[in-house]
Amino acid sequence: MDKNIVWHPASLKKKDRQFLNGHSSFVLWFTGLSGSGKSTLANEVDRQLYSIGRRSYILDGDNIRHGLNRDLDFTNEDRIENIRRIGEVSKLFVDSGTIILTAFISPFREDRALVRKLFEEEEFIEVYLNCPLGVCELRDSKGLYKRARNGEIRNFTGIDSPYEPPVQPELAIDTSQQGVQGAAESIINYLKERDLI
Ligand code: ADX
Repeated sequence: MDKNIVWHPASLKKKDRQFLNGHSSFVLWFTGLSGSGKSTLANEVDRQLYSIGRRSYILDGDNIRHGLNRDLDFTNEDRIENIRRIGEVSKLFVDSGTIILTAFISPFREDRALVRKLFEEEEFIEVYLNCPLGVCELRDSKGLYKRARNGEIRNFTGIDSPYEPPVQPELAIDTSQQGVQGAAESIINYLKERDLI
């Protein structure tokens, strides 16, 4: 569709901004059930990156749904739009030379694949938190699983809405087996081994 809009190329490129920051930029895309530890782990990795002078930022589902995506619900359609927008916002962050950490359930394989396509090969790192549903439900830090089981919340991921696990994630971490500190270090090591930070 012709919308009469023309792409305006920026004079400063991603490479220039990365050079200024002294490191590359990429997305750490955390995916997993509610309560699998996405926000907790993303925050710990963010803190560790900060402590070694790397510029990073977190986009978190619960927070983004208070502002940018406040118009979206938890129907399949709205989740798809949620992830589409976050993919685009992440691309802007990567273009700005920033390391972006996203913590969204992002339950659908196809949506994550579409986001991956927005990036160059090494720029999209899918981190699957494969914590078993039973453990997430036991944690129930927000009390939402209990409400979903009681039928007070509909379309709850893992209960009456599906979660499609990644087939080939760059990293898979079972947070029921590994502590936050160790998991964060393994992510940092992964990035160092590939000269990404
Ligand atoms: S996503 O599926 O669209 O990626 P997102 O990560 O933004 O979800 O939001 C998930 C968070 O919203 C959960 O951690 C939970 O706190 C809250 N939530 C509220 N209702 C639901 C629901 N029906 N399914 C999953 N999470 C929900």
